[in-house]
Amino acid sequence: MPVKSRTPYANSFAMALPDREISNDELSTFIDTSDEWISKRTGIKKRYWVSEGTTTSSLAVEAASKSIDQLSNGTQIDAIIAATLSPDYSFPGIGVQIQDALGLPPVPAYDVRNQCSGFLYAMEMGGALISTGVYENILIVGAEVHSTGMDKTTRGRDIAVLFGDGAGSCILSHGKRSGLSFELVGTELHSDGAYAKELWCEHPGSVLFPDRLTEELVREGKVFPEMNGRLVFENAVRHMTEVSLSLLAKHGYGSSDVSLFLPHQANLRINTMVAQKLGLNESQVFSTIQDYGNTTAATIPIGFTRAVEEGAFTSGDLVLSAAFGSGFTWGAALYRVV
Ligand SMILES: CC(C)(COP(=O)(O)OP(=O)(O)OC[C@H]1O[C@@H](n2cnc3c(N)ncnc32)[C@H](O)[C@@H]1OP(=O)(O)O)[C@@H](O)C(=O)NCCC(=O)NCCS
Repeated sequence: MPVKSRTPYANSFAMALPDREISNDELSTFIDTSDEWISKRTGIKKRYWVSEGTTTSSLAVEAASKSIDQLSNGTQIDAIIAATLSPDYSFPGIGVQIQDALGLPPVPAYDVRNQCSGFLYAMEMGGALISTGVYENILIVGAEVHSTGMDKTTRGRDIAVLFGDGAGSCILSHGKRSGLSFELVGTELHSDGAYAKELWCEHPGSVLFPDRLTEELVREGKVFPEMNGRLVFENAVRHMTEVSLSLLAKHGYGSSDVSLFLPHQANLRINTMVAQKLGLNESQVFSTIQDYGNTTAATIPIGFTRAVEEGAFTSGDLVLSAAFGSGFTWGAALYRVV
């Protein structure tokens, strides 16, 4: 780890959503499912799906523009870190598209692909680059379009009901900006690739020879995400709890010091169980899953944006964030509101 010399602050959270709202009842018109099943098992009531012409990078750019608009005139973005599992193209990643669409100078554009932990991975990397003085202001974006990559038939219902499209962003800087700022107190990240196949999208990829994609794979639905839901659920609860306690302890805190828990949004029951294990009460958990479903790398910045809008933060609050997802990857971040 580099020697920490400057404190990173997350400023100017913003979000973007596609225009098509899909309720559980609407899903039930083309998938054998029900509002009752989805609400009871996941907490999700609706999600937003793109229409033609909206892409992961266009959502990312919309959110990022709102973040940049909140900065004072003359503030330069020195780098971009973009997290997504659903880029517009196989390559290049969306970082360069964001750079171009925003009309930024030729700053570096990192692409992070750690799925539901992507935003936390981006924040740890950005935090290190700010604290070591490499950059002054880094645009961090998490964005996804899931709706065009899922099996939206009954065959894929375990996945299709869970995911939504959207984007969230912030500017990580070495100083506080106007409005609420979030001092990045610390992060802790993990991975365990032994579980890679428990939540994955197998094809197309370079594992196949001589061609990555065949008609048969498409017919068999092998181009859609697959998940061992129960195993993911159990591991999410265990790892999000453990990493939260570990990160808090590293910084001399316990869970009783936490004001607000703003976790990744995969399932309301996962977050309720983690909060219970941490000894937090329901009112300390910030949830957006009911409105957006799981937007993967975008859930946490969307959560921050909504929480700012709703006045959920008070200066001095200690905010805990945690995530778990495909990889498996997981982690936590701790912020102080200033
Ligand atoms: C996916 C998840 C909601 C499923 O909940 P569950 O309680 O484990 O449900 P199961 O998978 O055991 O399925 C129970 C039944 O509901 C059915 N079912 C599955 N999806 C359904 C749907 N969308 N609508 C209606 N019924 C459904 C199953 O076929 C099964 O039927 P059966 O009992 O007749 O076999 C849950 O496992 C989960 O949230 N896992 C973690 C997901 C996650 O976090 N993913 C992303 C990580 S970032």
